[in-house]
Amino acid sequence: MSEVIALANQKGGVGKTTTAINLGAALAMHGKRVLIFDFDPQANSSAGLGMRADGAATTYEVVIAGVPVVDVARPTMVEGLWLAAASPSLAGAEVELVPMMAREFRLKRALDAVRESYEYVLIDCPPSLGLLTVNALAAADEVIVPVQCEYLALEGLSQLTSTLELVRRNLNSSLRLRGLLLTMFDGRTNLSQQVADEVRTHFTNTFTTVIPRSVRLSEAPSHGLAIAQYDPSSRAARAYGELAMELINGSRTEVRA
Ligand SMILES: Nc1ncnc2c1ncn2[C@@H]1O[C@H](COP(=O)(O)OP(=O)(O)O)[C@@H](O)[C@H]1O
Ligand SMILES: [Mg+2]
Repeated sequence: MSEVIALANQKGGVGKTTTAINLGAALAMHGKRVLIFDFDPQANSSAGLGMRADGAATTYEVVIAGVPVVDVARPTMVEGLWLAAASPSLAGAEVELVPMMAREFRLKRALDAVRESYEYVLIDCPPSLGLLTVNALAAADEVIVPVQCEYLALEGLSQLTSTLELVRRNLNSSLRLRGLLLTMFDGRTNLSQQVADEVRTHFTNTFTTVIPRSVRLSEAPSHGLAIAQYDPSSRAARAYGELAMELINGSRTEVRA
């Protein structure tokens, strides 16, 4: 049985896409079958894995036209890691979904059909709390919230947790907040440490693993590679490897914010 995990935070630039790619690759390297479902019109995780738009069906066609996920998923350079690529047309899906029947459950229907095929499905969400993200939360078993270790890190998180509560009450009662993930941690600054402490105080289910700020990590996508291939001995590669282990070994007990 698969675990469907949404990487969500309505703030942009916090590490959702970087985590989708590198956690996905790390899980695959631990022998898991993994699908990254790029659900952001900016298609950054598709680009970061070296996928070029070639007219093939994308995650847009999955939610709007009901194209099966198996017809969209393609293997990546990492063995065991598959990608369902996004396209810019996904930006229009936000509006096109509005009049549709069961509009919040379009993605759930599509992903439920591939639960036998993958052990992990990671949904890379757009930076908003619109219908695409709501579809992702309705489809997911768990949410991981990447948080950048910068000033105002906690800003917006109460809006996100109320959205999670609304989704639980109305669409998906078993949705769990798996944990917050501290990203772009810079050990040389007091600020990073302060933010990390503050996040851990508010959210006890913050992952033990912290993702360091790493130039190598920001370079890797321009080569279409995960960090585990681009610079396997880097601290960032090790961190994503540890995060994968934490996810695989971690309890699935319900933790609510
Ligand atoms: N740990 C990190 N160290 C350095 N740069 C990072 C790190 N994580 C992400 N980045 C960079 O920060 C930018 C935003 O990250 P991204 O994962 O695209 O965020 P999101 O998907 O939440 O918008 C990207 O340019 C990415 O390469
Ligand atoms: Mg992104």
